[in-house]
Amino acid sequence: MQSLHDLPPAFRWGVATSAYQIEGATAADGRGRSIWDTLCEVPGAVEQGENGDTACDHYHRWAEDIDVMRELGVGDYRFSISWPRVVPGGDGVVNRAGLAFYDRLVDGLLEAGIRPYATLYHWDLPQALQDRGGWPERATAERFGEYAGAVAEVLGDRVENWATLNEPYCAAWLGHLDGLHAPAVKDLTAAVHASYHLLLGHGLAAQALRANAARTPDVGIAVNLSPCEPATDSDADRDAARRADGHHNRWWLDPVHGRGFPADMLEVYGVDLPERPGDDGTIATPLDHIGVNYYFRQVVADAPGRPAPSFDILPVPGARTTAMGWEVHPEGLERTLVRLHEDYAPASIVITENGSAQHDVVEADGTVHDPDRVDFLERHLEACAAAVRRGVPLHGYYAWSLMDNFEWNFGYGKRFGLVHVDYATQRRTLKTSGRRFAQLIDSHRKAAASA
Ligand code: IFM
Repeated sequence: MQSLHDLPPAFRWGVATSAYQIEGATAADGRGRSIWDTLCEVPGAVEQGENGDTACDHYHRWAEDIDVMRELGVGDYRFSISWPRVVPGGDGVVNRAGLAFYDRLVDGLLEAGIRPYATLYHWDLPQALQDRGGWPERATAERFGEYAGAVAEVLGDRVENWATLNEPYCAAWLGHLDGLHAPAVKDLTAAVHASYHLLLGHGLAAQALRANAARTPDVGIAVNLSPCEPATDSDADRDAARRADGHHNRWWLDPVHGRGFPADMLEVYGVDLPERPGDDGTIATPLDHIGVNYYFRQVVADAPGRPAPSFDILPVPGARTTAMGWEVHPEGLERTLVRLHEDYAPASIVITENGSAQHDVVEADGTVHDPDRVDFLERHLEACAAAVRRGVPLHGYYAWSLMDNFEWNFGYGKRFGLVHVDYATQRRTLKTSGRRFAQLIDSHRKAAASA
């Protein structure tokens, strides 16, 4: 793929995962319960009644997983830290045994020449904090800042790259408005307040990382962005697309870039923010980079009878889709990157997640040929190169995901990995897409070295 040579020579190639989706060992070494442990026990919340108790058993197999990363040739690994492992009760005592797991992991990565990129919150809130009200409460943001400081004290001498939150959209809207994700609340006021405190927590965590890490941290936030297009040219659909863009993109991007929460969306939600003087500045604590998680675009129609923000996402007739039913639309990634660059001018952008679930078939010899995932990967990398040609400061790409894992409400049925996991034996097998990713990384590195 010639176009990949347009990516910067020092482009960072990585794979991403998150704690609850891969670690398992939910009762090991003093880990506390998380809101996902609780939701998984609710009948019907997760397909097949599955949960993260064992997942990919990464907690015990991390060394083997680092070997797999070496086979892929990635230079970076993005993982998340489980808050309930580190602070089982949500506040107070730090569980040294839980933090020691990440110590081992980080040391193992560095020995393998792989740069760790740590995310502090990928949706596994300690249940103890949920019992006190969770993200709709300001105290949760404050506890998050303290947890970030405790992690930075221990790992901040070796980890340089950090994201505070992963996809606050999902934690706030899917968790508190749509009731799909933990804690499965359906309440607009709770959702707006959760979104506010997530971003306040982000700012407090960014400050705590900078205050406590021995090594100057490179701090970011990973947001899932989607271009929102009107289904028709009607004024109603165009307004709906603006609301969808506000709900999905601007609600998160504006405040962290110092613009406050978008006024049009405050009107749409009709909920007062739980603001206190000085919060705006905390939320807008300067970022070193912004992480973009991209999966699909949204084609939006007005839905006047529905509660705020009153829009529907329509399927695109004839579109190619992944096993999640998501449209394959790499053009949307280029558009998202260019828009982010033009409208917000972040210093540096990294794709912190991009990937696809496919209907993988394991052949008799154990191999997995996944041409649709290869195509998805190549086309989205082409989109990255196209964005770079248009001046976007894109510095890295982390494929979602290193390996098949627990896909939240969908359980283990949806496979996003470049590496297949046989959950009965925990055997890892590189898929064709993993081999292709390794080739692309290698050829980009060689070209960069000879330039
Ligand atoms: O698996 C998730 C991940 O946890 C967050 N971003 C989207 C992925 C695919 O749905």
